Amino acid sequence: MCGIIGIASNKSVTSNIIQSLKKLEYRGYDSAGIATITKGEIDENKCTGRVDNLEKILFKNPSSGVLGIGHVRWATHGVPNQVNAHPHSSEEVSVVHNGIIENSSELKKDLEKKGYRFKSQTDTEVITFLLTDFLKNFDLINTINKTLEKLHGSFALGIIFKKYNNIVVGARRGSPLAVGYGHEENYLGSDSYALKSMTNKITYLDDGDICVLTNNKVEFYNSTNIKINKEVLTLSDDKHIAEKGDYKDFMSKEIYEQNITAKTCIKEYIDQLRGDINLYNFPIKPQEIEKIILIGCGTAYHACLTSKYWFEELTTIPIEIDVASEFRYRKLQFNKKNLYVFVSQSGETADTFAALDLCKKNNVITCSIINVVESSIARTSDFVLPIHAGPEIGVASTKAFIGQMLVLYILSLKISEARKEISKLDYIKKITELKTLPDLIKKTLECEDKIQVIAKDFLEAKGTIFLGRGSSFPIALEGALKLKELSYLHAEGYPAGEMKHGPLALIEEGLPVVVLAPKDKYFEKTISNMQEVIARGGKVFLITNESKNIISENIRFTLEISKTDDYLTPFLMTIPLQLLAYHVASLKNLDIDKPRNLAKSVTVE
Ligand code: G6P
Repeated sequence: MCGIIGIASNKSVTSNIIQSLKKLEYRGYDSAGIATITKGEIDENKCTGRVDNLEKILFKNPSSGVLGIGHVRWATHGVPNQVNAHPHSSEEVSVVHNGIIENSSELKKDLEKKGYRFKSQTDTEVITFLLTDFLKNFDLINTINKTLEKLHGSFALGIIFKKYNNIVVGARRGSPLAVGYGHEENYLGSDSYALKSMTNKITYLDDGDICVLTNNKVEFYNSTNIKINKEVLTLSDDKHIAEKGDYKDFMSKEIYEQNITAKTCIKEYIDQLRGDINLYNFPIKPQEIEKIILIGCGTAYHACLTSKYWFEELTTIPIEIDVASEFRYRKLQFNKKNLYVFVSQSGETADTFAALDLCKKNNVITCSIINVVESSIARTSDFVLPIHAGPEIGVASTKAFIGQMLVLYILSLKISEARKEISKLDYIKKITELKTLPDLIKKTLECEDKIQVIAKDFLEAKGTIFLGRGSSFPIALEGALKLKELSYLHAEGYPAGEMKHGPLALIEEGLPVVVLAPKDKYFEKTISNMQEVIARGGKVFLITNESKNIISENIRFTLEISKTDDYLTPFLMTIPLQLLAYHVASLKNLDIDKPRNLAKSVTVE
């Protein structure tokens, strides 16, 4: 989703803005642009497609400006073309924006009446003209606050002015924005990852904050024009983790890192000496929890759904799961004895953040399961459980999913133990088994060669279905999501028992169907559902840990994974499905790390 960069320096900023925009590419985008103040004028360059195209334009047309803003756009209002790409500039100001201005149509009408002529179809251009208009009568901070007062919706902004030609301004409401401090230059960025190659000193803006950067000073103001102080944080140095190394793309690297993700996460949460789970200062006594509500989007939602089976098996606590975009608009009965858990890799997903904000406003206890610990969701929730996966760059989430499930499983175990709902013996046994997970993941990754062969069968398919029961059902959903995201193939996940209520009509000769059937309490039933698919001509790819008792000559391919504790099986089932999506996309020559239309960090509604 849209990414913002701003730099105030005393030397040319173009090359650093381009490099930082490249760091933001992982968020997903369709066009890019840059504006600097060069020879006292706003100099704007934009392109469709990749930042590389912008770099080529700037190579032919170098800009010597010592301050500027840059942007990668993920289209919301207006098609992805050069005119709609950001920045949007008038003679006086240039603006880059992440978010959505919900009242842009009304504002546009008013501004048109005043004589402003719009070039683009974007919601952002109204900000450019509002600023231009207020500048006629107000000073800098008043101009910004008067403009922001007019805007409904969410935004992070980067702004430069012809008149104030030594500053870059940033403002935030609802979309993330950070300031970075360098040597004789200061930076603005959508996330710390984009700024990390330049600095490890960061301040995160909160809603309503404005920042004014020169090359040697950063000032912050609130919405009433008062100067405020903000905390400067030092980021941990994990730059090396975010490089591709010898891998072809970030996704394959991240898939192959999953045993390390599991190992690190287990090390962080399991006390090696006591063999117990570390969970200090938890914001609610587990014995007093009346209900747990888990909220997330996309892959994070699937992690929540998987954990429902663990919480329900291990505790007597009622569990509710919802996607954040639904939760935030429901008429809810908030309860101070409930625990509201927010799961998000980026910690910046707009819907998840809004759902958390709603809970905060209702004074209930919130906990977040997060990868980016400096993120808005982590900073806003009462308690944070990091997944310790390191930067995840591929748009389609892989290692973060494993990390999210792992922390949720650890949480369910600990809550169960604290409530004395699991016996001490079983608790210790489960922890001992958990420690074997990294090796089991590593072993499962060895199935890649087989998956490469299976993937060919999906190339000509017009669609595909993933089936599972119990905790394999959310994994089926995740497998279908991965295939959709990466290979643009229609894929649906279903509880295997639901097939007869409709989806069975889709089965025809040769339709690929992936069946997840571990040897658990649902095994026989899932196998019967599989037979129904085979009987109707479906081409079944079975993933199981118990192939020897399955008799069917008509299974197209059976993939055997390791037998382990039922609670750990969803982790192993996930791996072949990630690899399947990867290889189908790879055979189709698609952009693995940046699938079309998608964004890594979804900061709009
Ligand atoms: C986007 C990403 C998905 C991710 C979802 C939730 O759709 O493409 O990979 O699962 O957002 O993101 P979060 O950062 O909140 O986990």
